[in-house]
Amino acid sequence: MKLRITVLPGDGIGPEVTSEAVRVLRLVGDFSGYDFEFNEKPFGGAACRLSGKPLPPATLDSCLESDAVLLGAVGAPEFDTFPRHERPESGLLQLRMALGGYANLRPAVAYKAIADCSPLQASVVEGANLLVVRELLGGLYFGEPRAFDQDRQTAFNTMRYSKEEIERIAHIAFQEARRRRRKLTSVDKANVLETSQLWREVVSRVAREYTDVKLEHMYVDSCAMHLVTDPRRFDVILTENLFGDILSDESAVITGSLGMLASATIGGSVNLYEPVHGSAPDIAGRGVANPLGAILSAAMLLRYSAHLPQEASDIESAVRSVLEAGYRTADLTRGRPRLAVTTAEMGQQVEKVVADRLDNRHAYHAV
Ligand code: NAI
Ligand code: MG
Repeated sequence: MKLRITVLPGDGIGPEVTSEAVRVLRLVGDFSGYDFEFNEKPFGGAACRLSGKPLPPATLDSCLESDAVLLGAVGAPEFDTFPRHERPESGLLQLRMALGGYANLRPAVAYKAIADCSPLQASVVEGANLLVVRELLGGLYFGEPRAFDQDRQTAFNTMRYSKEEIERIAHIAFQEARRRRRKLTSVDKANVLETSQLWREVVSRVAREYTDVKLEHMYVDSCAMHLVTDPRRFDVILTENLFGDILSDESAVITGSLGMLASATIGGSVNLYEPVHGSAPDIAGRGVANPLGAILSAAMLLRYSAHLPQEASDIESAVRSVLEAGYRTADLTRGRPRLAVTTAEMGQQVEKVVADRLDNRHAYHAV
């Protein structure tokens, strides 16, 4: 089987971490019989320098014609003073719109080996493993009308959700819960907002199709508190766009480093996989960035676009093993960067463990 992957390394540490993710994907391709075809395209600041546009038509076309898009990160300080539509970050918004994914999945796992990297107490975060499912195309960020009044003394936005928008994201969240610990927390502000009341009604209705999943409703303020006091109580968190933006960043705290976080945006014409972090210009070009968020995003690609759940789990458990073996990039050394391995060394370690796992399984099947 063939899988066409458009790779958008982007800016700053984007190319450094993306090449480690591609390294692991190539390995899986060699073992799985999948023919992964990688098409690398300029995007973000790198594309602006070539053509003045962050999302050139050839890059967009390649994305739309592919089976999955793997993105590094965009953004470079030299563009900070440019008009908004000429900045690298605007290319990312255009790309997300064009691909049309409405479900943003962000896992947050507190690996035991690096539990001491979180600013929260290790005893609070250890063992936490949750998934935020954020609605991405509705709510306040897109609702019309929106405006300043004439003299900029007042401004307003519109929060709007339709039953269909809520239903489709709810189905994704319930299906995710089924693959995990079968617990779903739907987060809203139904004591105040009509959109949240509709959200609660629709999610409760969808729940009847998933009686094996335990559903609870929670107010967003309460969820914000529980996330840092008792993150282990969560499995899947389902929420709308604005709440999800905030809660997914908050849940990142339990993992210990921004560099650990992966994401997938699914439900549109082509799924998009990217680490959560930005281009980190402060450390770019030094080979010190943590590639695990990018590598874990590649694992999500295997799960959602290649339908290789076993290989995806192999990567996830290899990341765990490599951390348990003591390998750390600088962001995970708690201020002792001399103990750190480089971006490429971290990628190679993961590759090695994944190769062992794939090798064992294939040897087993061959017997
Ligand atoms: P950032 O995520 O790039 O960096 C924040 C801090 O985390 C920095 O100190 C950085 O060194 C560190 N960091 C991030 N990723 C890391 C990794 N993999 N390993 C080790 N350390 C890591 O966010 P910041 O500084 O706010 O933004 C920098 C640029 O990235 C801006 O131009 C911003 O617009 C862009 N950005 C792009 C995103 C994307 O492409 N999805 C997301 C967020 C920001
Ligand atoms: Mg955000």
